[in-house]
This record gives sequence, structure tokens and C-alpha cells, in this order.
Amino acid sequence: VSLRPYNTFGLDVQARLFARFSSVEDLQTLLQLPEVQAAEKLVLGGGSNLLFTQNFDGVVLKNEICGLDIISQDDNTALVRAGAGESWHGMVQYTLDQELSGIENLSLIPGTVGAAPLQNIGAYGAELKDTFDHLEALEISTGQLRTFSAAECGFGYRESVFKGPLKNQYIVTGVVLRLHRQAQPNVSYGAIKTTLEDLGIGGEPTPRQVSEAVMHIRRSKLPDPAQIGNAGSFFKNPEVSQAKFDELKAQYPEVPGYPVPGGVKVPAGWLIEQCGWKGMRRGAHGVHDKQALVLVNHGGAQGQDIRELAHDIIASVREKFGVELHPEVNIF
Ligand code: EPU
Repeated sequence: VSLRPYNTFGLDVQARLFARFSSVEDLQTLLQLPEVQAAEKLVLGGGSNLLFTQNFDGVVLKNEICGLDIISQDDNTALVRAGAGESWHGMVQYTLDQELSGIENLSLIPGTVGAAPLQNIGAYGAELKDTFDHLEALEISTGQLRTFSAAECGFGYRESVFKGPLKNQYIVTGVVLRLHRQAQPNVSYGAIKTTLEDLGIGGEPTPRQVSEAVMHIRRSKLPDPAQIGNAGSFFKNPEVSQAKFDELKAQYPEVPGYPVPGGVKVPAGWLIEQCGWKGMRRGAHGVHDKQALVLVNHGGAQGQDIRELAHDIIASVREKFGVELHPEVNIF
């Protein structure tokens, strides 16, 4: 089976086996099949954070568990449950339709609900963990369902236990968020404020207006995977010590940085742009011209080529700044 329609880089690699599931029971049945038990398994949501560098000699399990519901509410909050196979942006739209607030800053992030907790998706001043209540996941080895609280998920910057100690052990089947019934707009991210002004929106914005501003910013910087293959930020923004940052600042006074506990986070996009990579093209692949953190497949690129480009970018940033970049996408 070609995985080309199932990864936003648009890479044409083959999987030996491919199966879809749309319920927990389906999934439990699938996991009992001897050929599935024996094979390496890759659970796919939207395929928006993956780089395939070769064919996959295992079974791809495509999560298509649906459902969007408000499961309970009190005076201030509502619990919204989504099946892991729902599109993330679809969930954001659903919560706006229900006049709930809390994930509007995460509008238009590609991928599925089930993938969101794996890397604690974040953008424009918000992270999934800010509204996360719990998730439901199936243990692959036993077929048992269990819940994980926020604490049990071990969320960090683009991190969770599902990328660390519990990697490849659980399949997320549903996610429950606790959202606000009164609007609580978060416009801490500078570009949201200026975009709202540009859009002629004064005063306190509604959640839908914040969502519109975020969509406007994303569309202006990030390539639409339907048009240009990409997986969003290819690298994480590195954290450096305060001493290292002071050193960088002395040499490059314009270096941006955001204080975080234990150091300073430096935008990888800035470091990469300073090394001259922004908009650079190598045949069918390259670096996006409006955001250097995004690697793109203009059509027909191979995963190995993109991995090689990433490798060269890491080496040049290390060479020029002495800072180590780490991929944010999962490389297979
Ligand atoms: N910058 C440059 N050149 C570039 C890109 C960025 O100089 O080509 C500098 C600018 O100084 C800018 C700063 O980097 O002020 C920050 O840029 P931006 O606001 O575009 O955000 P980012 O740090 O590059 C992160 C996330 C994005 C998220 C945005 C907005 C990571 C790895 N990426 O990017 O997430 O949308 O912030 O919050 O943390 C993703 O994870 O796939 C993703 C797109």
C-alpha cells in the first residue's frame, strides 16, 4: 500500500500491511490477528509529523475513531470528548460552535486529535496541556483500555510519556479536554494582537476572532500541506543556558530568545535563516521561504533527501552558533 496519501510530506513509500479501525473493538480485533501481532506497528493519525525515509515493513494502523461530544458541564467549564481519529482543527471548530473557549489558539494545526497529546501540540501562546483533562488509550500488549491523567502523560515542550518511556506501547483512542464556558481570550502572543488590529477587530476579541487571527498568521507563514508537502516545524526550538545565550547575544545582538525555566529558548527558525537556508532549494525539496523551520517537498522528493538536508542544517547551525538542533518530526 502506498502511504503517499497518508503523510503530509507527500512521500511515496510503501507499507507491507495497512488496516483502518473506527472503534476500540475493531482495534482490539485487529491486534489479535497473528500477522498484526508479529509485525512492527505504526499507528497513523493525520501523518502530519512524520518523515518516511524508506518503505515500512510492518503494519500501518490508521486511526479513524470518530465522535465529538460534550460529556458534562458545570457553571464554568465543559468537558469535551473527541475520538482520536477526528481532525484536530475539526475539534477546534466544534468547540467554537459550542461557544467554548480554550483551544482557539491551536486552530489549523494539521493532524488528528489522537496525535495531539503525543507531542503536546502548541502554538501562539497555548499548549494542549493547558486544557487537557485526560485521555483513553489501549495497551497494545494486553488490549486493555486505560485512562491517563495530565500528570500521567508527562507533558513537556513537544513531549509526553508516549514519546518517551511508553513509546509504541499505547494507542490513544479518545481525548477529553476541559474548556471554558466564558470566553478567556489569550492574546499574549504579540502577532495575535497585531493581526487582530490588522483585521480591524478592536476591544476584547471573541474566541472565534482569535481563531481567525491565528488562521490568518498560519496561512501567511506556513505552507498548506495540500499544496506543498511539509510536516510543520521540522526542528524543536532549542533551549540554551543563560550563559550560552549571553555569549550569543554578545556576538549577534539581534538574536531572539524567550526565557524558560533553566535557560533561554532560541527560535530555530532564526538560527537556520542566519545560516542562509531560508528559501533554499535542492531539486524537489528545500526550506520554506517564509519560515525557515519548515522543510518542504515541492513534489517528488525522497525522504532520505529531506533527512540529509536536515542533517546539513543541523551541522551548519552547530558550526556557526554552537547550538544543537533536534528534529521535532518523527523520522522512520
Ligand atoms: N524566525 C526567523 N526566521 C524564520 C522563522 C522564525 O528569524 O524563518 C524568528 C523570528 O524572530 C520570530 C521567531 O523566530 O520572531 C519565532 O517565529 P514564529 O513565531 O514563526 O514561531 P517559531 O518559534 O518559529 C513555534 C512553533 C510552531 C508554532 C509557532 C507559533 C516549534 C518547534 N514551533 O515556531 O509550531 O506554530 O511557534 O507559536 O515550537 C509546529 O510545531 O509544527 C509548529 C508550526
